[in-house]
Amino acid sequence: MTAPRTFRIAAVPADGVGKEVVAAGRAVLDALAEDSRGSEDAFAFAWEEFPWGCEYYERTGKMIDDDGLDRLKEFDAIYFGAVGWPTVPDHISLWGLRLKICQSFDQWANVRPVHFLPGITSPLRKADDTELDWVVVRENSEGEYAGLGGRNLSGRGQGGEVAVQSALFTEVGCERIMRFAFDLARTRTRRKVSSVTKSNAQQYGMVLWDDVFKRVAADYPDVETESVLVDAMSAKFVLRPEDLSVVVASNLNADILSDLGSALAGSLGLAASANLNPERRFPSMFEPVHGSAPDIAGQGLANPIGAVGSAALMLEHFGLADQAARLHRAIEATTAAGVLTRDVGGTASTEDVTKALIDALNA
Ligand SMILES: NC(=O)c1ccc[n+]([C@@H]2O[C@H](COP(=O)([O-])OP(=O)(O)OC[C@H]3O[C@@H](n4cnc5c(N)ncnc54)[C@H](O)[C@@H]3O)[C@@H](O)[C@H]2O)c1
Repeated sequence: MTAPRTFRIAAVPADGVGKEVVAAGRAVLDALAEDSRGSEDAFAFAWEEFPWGCEYYERTGKMIDDDGLDRLKEFDAIYFGAVGWPTVPDHISLWGLRLKICQSFDQWANVRPVHFLPGITSPLRKADDTELDWVVVRENSEGEYAGLGGRNLSGRGQGGEVAVQSALFTEVGCERIMRFAFDLARTRTRRKVSSVTKSNAQQYGMVLWDDVFKRVAADYPDVETESVLVDAMSAKFVLRPEDLSVVVASNLNADILSDLGSALAGSLGLAASANLNPERRFPSMFEPVHGSAPDIAGQGLANPIGAVGSAALMLEHFGLADQAARLHRAIEATTAAGVLTRDVGGTASTEDVTKALIDALNA
């Protein structure tokens, strides 16, 4: 019998529902691996779980250990939950853990599919009879989240302080995310890339983005293109989503648009994402789009589908496309059977949905 291919995965559940959905995702992935045992294509996961997050910060003053990035570097991938808790300012928790990992590991491409599932009612009436499926490609290393700027002049007294938050756009950063989007478009039924900016108002960085987009597009004559302002694109998500295939946008714009996309698909709890370092110099990180949801944390109400969909993206990254497809089929069978958490109109718990997903793997 051949030894299974083993993938080393660092689990970082972090805060709130992050813990519940990572546990669910791990259970589903372990069931898949267990099922492959003894076969020629057997694979296994070697997990190590890290306690970093807001509770850790309150205990130690650190969101991640000093050698945390060095330790994470050794893994094949990172499976992340969500970071943030009301007791710690959000900019400290986000920058201290999630953005620190994304930026240090140059995970410059964030892929966020907007996937409509059977059995889940979309607030879009159009979704009832129109095939809708698009993917947001988010520039994940610079733009509005470059972390450049500062606060000063607090010495002027209350009301006198100033803050500058700069966005950074580099030709290298723009070009690599656009080529990624075009290459992705070539794998899809509809070969189209929609570029999103606000270049009428932001005349430096976003005009550079537009210029690079035109230059890159010339290398992909087989791919249809359009450039749309972000305000118009948010309307288009609602009114003409059937016209979308790959949407490429800057860090902030894509962050907002992908939440809109997941809400249109039915819930923030459904949306999956991959933070990729496409050169594979560092591990990539897979996480649901949603945050730690303090309003429902610890009650068994969290929808695990975003986290499980992110696990499917991780399987694709490992070259296990058949297993990823199997996971997608299990998700569709589960929602079609009406096993739904409260956010999508059901009464099932996180555990019920996880169990149904595992049962559906072999159906
Ligand atoms: N990637 C991340 O780690 C990430 C992303 C966004 C927000 N956050 C952090 O999360 C905290 C809460 O932020 P927020 O309230 O703006 O966003 P959120 O995504 O946590 O919650 C928004 C709404 O969606 C619901 N929701 C989220 N995930 C769900 C799930 N799996 N199942 C069912 N319902 C779900 C919540 O109950 C809430 O009503 C903040 O500290 C924020 O900084 C972290």
